[in-house]
Amino acid sequence: MSDEQLIELYKERTKNSAELFKKSIPMLVGGIGGSAPSYDPYPLYVKRANGSKIWDVDGNEYIDFNLCWGVLLVGHRHPLIVSGLVDQIEHGTMFGLPHEESIEVANALGERFPIEKVRFVNSGSESTLYAIRLARSYTGKDKIIKIEGSYHGVMDSLHISKRPRLGEAGPYQRPSRIPYGKGITPGTVEDTLIAPFNNADIIKSLLEEHVGEVAAVIVEPVMMNAGVIPAEKEYLKELRELANEYNILLIFDEVKTGPKIAYGGATEYFGVEPDLIALAKAIGGGLPLGACGGKAEIIDVIDEEGLFGTFSANPLSIRASKITLTKILTRDVYSKLDKLGNNLLKGYADIIKDHRLEAIVQGINSCGGILFTKTPVRDYRAWTTVDKVRTHRYWISMANEGIIPMAYGADEEWLVSVQHTEEDIENHLEAFKKVAPNI
Ligand SMILES: Cc1ncc(COP(=O)(O)O)c(C=O)c1O
Repeated sequence: MSDEQLIELYKERTKNSAELFKKSIPMLVGGIGGSAPSYDPYPLYVKRANGSKIWDVDGNEYIDFNLCWGVLLVGHRHPLIVSGLVDQIEHGTMFGLPHEESIEVANALGERFPIEKVRFVNSGSESTLYAIRLARSYTGKDKIIKIEGSYHGVMDSLHISKRPRLGEAGPYQRPSRIPYGKGITPGTVEDTLIAPFNNADIIKSLLEEHVGEVAAVIVEPVMMNAGVIPAEKEYLKELRELANEYNILLIFDEVKTGPKIAYGGATEYFGVEPDLIALAKAIGGGLPLGACGGKAEIIDVIDEEGLFGTFSANPLSIRASKITLTKILTRDVYSKLDKLGNNLLKGYADIIKDHRLEAIVQGINSCGGILFTKTPVRDYRAWTTVDKVRTHRYWISMANEGIIPMAYGADEEWLVSVQHTEEDIENHLEAFKKVAPNI
């Protein structure tokens, strides 16, 4: 099928989405509310969701492997969360005074992650913002080291070298600092040093070059905004050692890895302890919740910095999180989740091989993604070789088959939820098998 035919089929199936997109344009920037991406010809507008599925405004059913960028590890409308939220609404949605369940959620996070104390926020961006502010305040130093191509939310200091074009990215050993957009001041850019992923030697050399100036290195233990790029064997351990040696903080951005790649996230999976952890997405069970946690003496600096938020630890998000962490994502569900996720990864690898597709699949347990490139991707620069046109063709083809295969975009990935079944995985793989020869 030609690209034109694929798009025609998409349009034929989604006329009401087209109408809504047209209506959105005058008032909503890019035709979207601020979360979902826009893409050609227009995004799907969703009517409702349940379990592993969503339905668009034209009544088409999709098995959903985007799951809101990995927020919904619990799946859509998990019955325990629905009844818990209804009950919480009956008791009140905002108190403006502390309530008991936030203690329970803090303890549940402390049980999974190596954190002595936590401060709740509402999003991943806030949680990384808190981590950076705390690191600077605690160490008394200004500079941070960030990984090239990684995304940690929209804070100025971290919105640098998120998607640099290779022509302007500078040498591999010393990547340039490229602000995303024009609203970031030169001083902020100056204070963010950039290093490639999976290379601790370059971080060491940056620390040598800036002795006494660096507060922290912030890293996603698995880069998940360039497909899925796991940390190589010793990388995180080496970062831990460097942080100790140079007296800087190690911050793990676990917003995406969170309680997904393992019960205790990446810290448990890789066996390396950071000083601070930024959490969000899946910990909220579908409601907005973030948390910045770590060593008590560092987190306690929050009071000096005056960091608060009106909606932080709001009772609805806390209730959803409590149910998520204590009733749904119990240790025993991970074996089922990991099995389904690994079946999907293996199924993709087999189909890619059978059809001799120029593509690879990378992932860990329930998180994974296809990358239309030849060789394994270990950092951002390797990821830039991914063919965006073929990725778009893949995504539209799969949507036409009733599968949202992953979040839209070559930098994204899929997630399997606790409500997905073996049949969902088989249907996903069947659809991929069908469309593969055309990609
Ligand atoms: C690794 C990582 N950190 C932080 C963020 C920011 O989170 P939020 O969109 O909740 O602000 C994201 C968002 O996708 C992310 O992927």
